[in-house]
Amino acid sequence: MRLAWQADLDALFDLDVIAQREESRREFIARAVACGQCWVATDADDTELLLGYGVLDHSFFGQEFIPLVVVLGSARRRGVGAAIVRELESRSLGAKLFTSTNASNLPMQALLGKLGFIGSGQVENLDEGDPELVFVKFRC
Ligand SMILES: CC(C)(COP(=O)(O)OP(=O)(O)OC[C@H]1O[C@@H](n2cnc3c(N)ncnc32)[C@H](O)[C@@H]1OP(=O)(O)O)[C@@H](O)C(=O)NCCC(=O)NCCS
Repeated sequence: MRLAWQADLDALFDLDVIAQREESRREFIARAVACGQCWVATDADDTELLLGYGVLDHSFFGQEFIPLVVVLGSARRRGVGAAIVRELESRSLGAKLFTSTNASNLPMQALLGKLGFIGSGQVENLDEGDPELVFVKFRC
């Protein structure tokens, strides 16, 4: 894992199918990279190859928050997502770390449960018919 830098932007856009089609996602990633809030997972044998990324910021009521974790489609179920979340946890400083995902996103919910995050409410009316579930992890 390492901090993302400007030269990673094209590779980050390539590994994220939403970034490939949505300008707003590309802008979000570019802003996170510029602010030093984006961390990338690289292949152990080829550190040029990005396997995923995660962002840690304070965009949730001023709390430490993971707004996004994305793993390259072909690299899923190999522990990359968990490694990214653990890295962001290790970079966070506060007593609580929040994140959220859609009710329909069972893989992310399973990952969060495995890493000790617990439910912390839900927000309706963001994506129609698919509430946003909030999770928190209390750090000792
Ligand atoms: C969610 C996501 C980040 C998971 O990344 P990943 O690298 O595949 O996850 P890991 O391999 O680290 O999985 C860790 C654990 O999470 C759970 N998990 C992950 N994917 C799962 C799936 N498809 N089905 C069931 N459980 C899953 C499992 O408990 C897994 O442990 P195991 O493999 O030992 O059973 C990935 O699927 C992804 O990038 N999805 C698209 C983007 C997204 O939805 N991001 C989350 C919203 S911010």
